[in-house]
Amino acid sequence: MQKSFFLETFGCQMNVVDSERIVDLLGQIGYQRVDQPDHADLVLLNTCSVRDKAERRVYGHLGRFKPIKDRRPELIIGVGGCVAQQEGERMLEKIPYLDLVFGTHNIHRLPELVQQVERRDGRGNATDFLDRETRLNLFPQRTAGDSVTRFVTIMQGCDNFCSYCIVPYVRGREISRPSDEILQEVRDLVAQGVREITLLGQNVNSYGLKEEGEISFAELLRRVDGIDGLERLRFTTSHPKDLSDELIDCFGTLEKLCHHIHLPVQCGSDRILDAMNRGYHRADYLAKVTRLKRVCPDIRLTTDVIVGFPGETESDFAETLDLVAQVGYADAFTFLYSKRTGTAAAELDDGLQAAEKQKRFDRLLELQQKNSDDIWRSDLGRELEVLVEGESKQGDGQVFGRTTWNRIVNFTGSADLIGQLVKVRITKVFRNSNLGELLEANSYQ
Ligand code: SAH
Ligand code: SF4
Ligand code: F3S
Repeated sequence: MQKSFFLETFGCQMNVVDSERIVDLLGQIGYQRVDQPDHADLVLLNTCSVRDKAERRVYGHLGRFKPIKDRRPELIIGVGGCVAQQEGERMLEKIPYLDLVFGTHNIHRLPELVQQVERRDGRGNATDFLDRETRLNLFPQRTAGDSVTRFVTIMQGCDNFCSYCIVPYVRGREISRPSDEILQEVRDLVAQGVREITLLGQNVNSYGLKEEGEISFAELLRRVDGIDGLERLRFTTSHPKDLSDELIDCFGTLEKLCHHIHLPVQCGSDRILDAMNRGYHRADYLAKVTRLKRVCPDIRLTTDVIVGFPGETESDFAETLDLVAQVGYADAFTFLYSKRTGTAAAELDDGLQAAEKQKRFDRLLELQQKNSDDIWRSDLGRELEVLVEGESKQGDGQVFGRTTWNRIVNFTGSADLIGQLVKVRITKVFRNSNLGELLEANSYQ
């Protein structure tokens, strides 16, 4: 009998990819995805614990499923992802109506856990970390579906231990996938119709460094760029300390590499950067930005910034504002520092008042909003290349795609354009997307 599951995903692209894997695996044991939990046989949350608020949301969301379970006790409720990894058994103890938890290394065991609960054979728990060899064999093989653009995971885990960050504890040690396997997967995806690939990892710039005989990330990019039929290439996320000159220069030489880089700076003060254990200083970061702009003059940068790290003074914060203004980011994701138990920074004295932190946060947001508005508004009237990804959600005869800067553009056009690079004139600029008109199709075929 066909069964159904509801799955909600929080957090970063790692979780998005993991959720795609979950959908595949559950499909193999007869579960089909539905978009409402009310009548599902199984509900799952794929969770994020990067900030306290994200973690609390998990508990809030689980509470929503309780009344459904009260009505239908046979409903199976499960939690996966980073909160599950961190909490493990404790989650089962805290939440009596929870049936299973599975961590970031154990997604492949989900079908077995679900079947165990179906048999009433106890609650499921798989949150141990796996060894390197096992993990290397478990990199998900992707299928294209009908997508134009796909993430390809090239590494997992993180060894950087930025002092505020929980990720190294919930994703485990860094491993890089063999380059042959990555290249084969990209070729397969392209053969199935994919036109854009985003290479994915917590810190892609350190790809291969710890694997004997493996190629560098810059070399991997060059090889992916050479794959026939691929139109565009992106990667995320970059750690500034490992952004080599060789890699920067790829932005000037690789034809398919999009002119956008997400380069999280976190802060503009050397003192705080040291306390964060980031491994670079403000001047190093700015020098890399200068080189990026030199080799690729129309590159646009985005970043992440943390406000209110323990001990941040007004003058530290002023340095962050100054750096943000100097770089001129197209977008910035700004976060209030959130204390994560188990990280090094959790031990630091955090004397700053919440109200003061909030004020700094608002000042940064205001500055960035102005930068973003100026940059995106400058596109008004320009003719830009857009890779068409699908029909717009509104369903009013519009399709959408992205510019090289990863900016969404909606415009009137037929579904035949999906998968094509077309020229579009920007006619309106909104906060998070643009509106355009199609100039010519097939112009880049
Ligand atoms: N590997 C990625 C980041 C993953 S987490 C990288 O290094 O770029 C995404 C962002 O969340 C981080 O860049 C950081 O800005 C933010 N973040 C991580 N831990 C945080 C914390 N404890 N409090 C506030 N923001 C945090
Ligand atoms: Fe966290 Fe730093 Fe690793 Fe990014 S590089 S995931 S911020 S520890
Ligand atoms: Fe969150 Fe885990 Fe990603 S903590 S940011 S989902 S790696």
